[in-house]
Amino acid sequence: MNQAVLVGLLLWAGTGSTLAQAIDGDDRIKAARARWEYNTHGQMLRRILPPTTDAAQLPEPASRGAQLTVQYCVQCHNLAPPAMHHAAKWPAIVNRMVPRMHGKGNMGAIMKDLMMDVETPGPAEIAAITAYLQKHAQRRVNTATLPEANKSRAWVSFVQACSQCHVAPDPQRHSRDEWPQVVARMERNMEWMNRVVGSKTDPREPQYRSDEIVAYLQRYAKR
Ligand code: HEC
Ligand code: HEC
Repeated sequence: MNQAVLVGLLLWAGTGSTLAQAIDGDDRIKAARARWEYNTHGQMLRRILPPTTDAAQLPEPASRGAQLTVQYCVQCHNLAPPAMHHAAKWPAIVNRMVPRMHGKGNMGAIMKDLMMDVETPGPAEIAAITAYLQKHAQRRVNTATLPEANKSRAWVSFVQACSQCHVAPDPQRHSRDEWPQVVARMERNMEWMNRVVGSKTDPREPQYRSDEIVAYLQRYAKR
């Protein structure tokens, strides 16, 4: 067989299996979503995380870590992508989730009732999931060393608004062109997760200023 054809075949086989695995992962997500629809606590569960990430959008979707994450981590809520949190945060989150899969802890009983057939990862699988989430995690920055720290209202808005659910991200993570879309998605996440997007009633409360935040991130964006 000529080499180009062989490489082509290998590539084709590679995409084929990745695709099949991704579809399998999306089926799991669909099955979990359907389950929430028919449960009294489902509405609460579906609000825990927004539906932004599908199995195929995970980094290295065909890796063992990605597949275990999809297998175990979409049983109760939408998928959390590794980039949501910084590496140091993930082990504690995973350790908070595992007892729930055993029907224990905060909301354990609800979880048990909701998922008669919940799958629980073993120690090696827990380690693989944690390692995967950490490998592709958000990079933590010290916000006090960012430009304009404690000097501009834009910096204050950014730090306050963008560290409610995860650490404030590094402005260098995205380019000027990417930031407006990311911030727009975060606003949808805030609505989905029922967090405050800025109150109009109390003038003493910090206001959420989307335009200032986008401009701030763009000033210090990746070039
Ligand atoms: C048995 C049900 C269940 C499973 C399975 C589960 N979770 Fe959760 N998860 C919850 C509940 C309930 C909450 C909301 C309360 C909380 O944050 O602890 C939650 C919240 C979260 C959050 C949002 C809160 C935060 O700290 O950002 C993340 C991220 C998360 N889970 C990640 C995971 C990962 C990763 C896995 C797989 C290892 C997983 N979950 C598996 C029940 C579950
Ligand atoms: C209501 C909770 C919440 C708030 C507040 C929030 N985020 Fe997020 N963020 C998420 C969730 C959930 C994810 C993972 C899913 C996703 O990427 O949409 C995430 C992921 C991220 C990521 C990693 C993914 C990527 O595309 O690089 C970045 C960067 C980010 N957020 C930036 C921000 C910024 C900037 C703000 C402030 C405007 C913000 N976030 C406010 C919930 C939030």
